[in-house]
Amino acid sequence: MNRFRISTPEGTRDLLFSSCRALRQTENAVRDALEERGYSEIITPAVEYYDVFAQANPELDQDQMLKIIDKSGRICVARPDNTTPIARIAATRLDDAALPVRLYYSQKVFRSVSGDHGHKGEFLQVGAELIGADGLAADKDILSAAFAALSRTGADNFRIELGHAEIYKALIEELGADAASSEAIRRLIENKSFAALGDALQPFGSRPAAKALSAMPQLFGGIEVLDEVETLTGNVRVLGAIAYLRRLYQALDEAGYGDRIMIDLGLVHEMDYYTGIMFRGYIGGAGAAILAGGRYNALCAKFGRDLPAGGFGIDVESVAESLQGASRPEVATRRDTVRIALTKGRLEKKTLALLKDAGYDISELEAGTRKLIFTLPDSGVEIVLSKAADVITYVEHGVCDMGVVGKDTIMEKGGSFYEMVDLGFGRCRFALATKKGKDVYGGYKTPVIATKYPAVTKAFFNRKNMDVETIKIEGSVELAPLLELADAIVDIVETGTTLKENGLEVIEDVAPISARVIVNLASAKMKKTAIQKVIAELEKGLEK
Ligand code: PRP
Repeated sequence: MNRFRISTPEGTRDLLFSSCRALRQTENAVRDALEERGYSEIITPAVEYYDVFAQANPELDQDQMLKIIDKSGRICVARPDNTTPIARIAATRLDDAALPVRLYYSQKVFRSVSGDHGHKGEFLQVGAELIGADGLAADKDILSAAFAALSRTGADNFRIELGHAEIYKALIEELGADAASSEAIRRLIENKSFAALGDALQPFGSRPAAKALSAMPQLFGGIEVLDEVETLTGNVRVLGAIAYLRRLYQALDEAGYGDRIMIDLGLVHEMDYYTGIMFRGYIGGAGAAILAGGRYNALCAKFGRDLPAGGFGIDVESVAESLQGASRPEVATRRDTVRIALTKGRLEKKTLALLKDAGYDISELEAGTRKLIFTLPDSGVEIVLSKAADVITYVEHGVCDMGVVGKDTIMEKGGSFYEMVDLGFGRCRFALATKKGKDVYGGYKTPVIATKYPAVTKAFFNRKNMDVETIKIEGSVELAPLLELADAIVDIVETGTTLKENGLEVIEDVAPISARVIVNLASAKMKKTAIQKVIAELEKGLEK
């Protein structure tokens, strides 16, 4: 018994001494900056009813909420987000308060995370909410508070990128796509999946909205991005949003923050939540956004009072970690290097050939050593060789800026990164296959599917509204139906030889696969020029 006596739950950890000091220093710096700007602290319960969060914020995945059943059998959750309870308070408890109200909080949020991904299940957020004010002055107030807070931490290498919810909403409405295609298109823009987005927009031909939407993933960088949009569309709502962003940029530039602002019009998070500007903050050394915010005018109304609102939250622990690491010499080197993780094995040869064609000196890699990290001479590029799934892990955590990995691994493992280029090689497909003549769908038995890719398999049958039982197999999945362990398999088919030689046949294709270039979210922004250069060179290599 007492098996878990000495460990802490997934995603949680103890912080000791210098880590505590660094965290508190950053936390206090952010709190001071917000207090100075007239924001007052509120504290909300660490545990609230599930209903508070269930509908309010579609960005909150139900699976990720840490649930607790109270004595009366009601479902409660450990606070998964700070903005929602504050909207609840604003709508129900601040009747007499003079608007606008400036509120800030410094409290933890909790998520239920599955092990081995290195994702945090508990983190301290300090954030601000400006409630009861709308428009340029209010948005400037919120963003100035965000800039002031990050500056106060002592960070010198941070940026905030701006987007606007109206741009995607207006274009998708103009396009006239149904709900399912709109969501698919939104996801492809969000992940910067250029190639797949082109395919998804193909049915809409040369409609101007299709052209503008297909450019959205690329529309990130400096303020000049706004000029580009104006050449792409005449949509009045989009142009209105662009004019608004320009005015906001000018106001923030006058306040001295111009150099720290980037634009990303491909910021298209869950659209029911954000109603105006959206923004994300990045800091050198942290692989993910350390700040997120925007305008959510519809949120308070969900608790019974229609109030405009906007705000942001800062992951102070990640900021503190980045500041602690900033003095290490390798961090300074990393700022100027693009580190690329390559998948060993099947894709390795073709990726290396592509790098060679693009003019990189890969002789050390060709020498066949057991080394794992290689510096390509005079290029500012480092290569890391790893297994496919690890390519994703390294890129997601930002210890590698880019990766080359198969779509099969991307589909199975998922994660937060941009999928920027379809390299076109390593082409094969996922397929459902079984013994010749077998009827997988016949009878009343729940089909048993053997696979190396349980997530891909479950998603495929979910789309069909079918319940199946999956069994994870590590290699040569074809054996499972032959040994009568499973009714069918979902596996990679390249030439089809393995299936044929074992008396199996494809029943249905699941998805096409090829090698993709993935890019870390923060690196795409903080090292944009260097990464775009590598991508352009690889693409040039592909044309040869
Ligand atoms: C893959 C896949 C099939 C085979 C398909 O396995 O799992 O077994 O390739 O290729 P084909 O259609 O050209 O015959 P892989 O070679 O990667 O080995 P593994 O099963 O050990 O992962």
